[in-house]
Amino acid sequence: MAPYWFWQQSIGVSNEAEALLNVAHLLLPRQTRKWLRQAYDGLRFDAAMRRFIANPGSALAPASPLLAELISAWGNSGWIANEGYLRACIASALASAGPTLECGSGLSTLLLGAVAQQHGQQHWALEHMPEWGIRVGRCADRHHLRAVKLHTAPLKTYAGYAWYDPPLSRWPCTFSLVVCDGPPAGTLGGRYGLAPIMREHLAPGCVILLDDAEREAEREIARRWQVELDASQQFVDDAKPFIQLVVSPRSARRATQVNGTDHGSYG
Ligand SMILES: C[S@@+](CC[C@H](N)C(=O)[O-])C[C@H]1O[C@@H](n2cnc3c(N)ncnc32)[C@H](O)[C@@H]1O
Repeated sequence: MAPYWFWQQSIGVSNEAEALLNVAHLLLPRQTRKWLRQAYDGLRFDAAMRRFIANPGSALAPASPLLAELISAWGNSGWIANEGYLRACIASALASAGPTLECGSGLSTLLLGAVAQQHGQQHWALEHMPEWGIRVGRCADRHHLRAVKLHTAPLKTYAGYAWYDPPLSRWPCTFSLVVCDGPPAGTLGGRYGLAPIMREHLAPGCVILLDDAEREAEREIARRWQVELDASQQFVDDAKPFIQLVVSPRSARRATQVNGTDHGSYG
């Protein structure tokens, strides 16, 4: 009980908790320090996530430290979207009228799931790493984010590229926003598969946010999508650049309803 009380109290006095962690750094064995850091970050994350769920839009206020706190407490540095990209994802999701899709799950899945839940929509995320899918899914459950529909399955090889294997037969819907932060670099064809696999499921005017635009491979994929999806594109020269594409509002695509739910599968 005592450690739980201690960490609960420390949420409101993070400077003191940080100071204690610094003292612990000098006195405690490495494994214990690591455990304490993880426990502290977990509590910080859950507290920040509760604030986000209560009012997702407030995290976009210029002075709000909430996104920075979520990023820092989530950890996983090197594999997490940066703040500028997350801001653009949240702003687009808040403006989105339909279900949203994400390629590659993580903190963004939870944030966009919270927005979808507020809108009475669903946020679908495709994930190929089983252990990562479990972490993200558990966190969504802990925060009662029923709008998150996470589908975990291995990448599939198509004609000349590998991509996710979405449950399209159980997935008869069009998406109004796609957040594209996976699959990772090094995948055959990179992220290209979105256009050929999902084109019939992108609503007219669908916004696609492609991360990692500092990479020439991503810029080349955006050029191909622009042609193949009849989309406009804008390079957003943020601290970490990304590309925003908008599928032509005139494009006639299948418009159907979300039908059923998906609890994820692997293999
Ligand atoms: C860039 S990450 C997606 C990050 C997500 N948009 C976020 O905001 O946290 C893309 C993919 O990398 C993989 N991944 C995540 N963390 C990883 C790690 N620490 N090491 C290796 N792969 C990782 C997962 O399969 C994930 O779907």
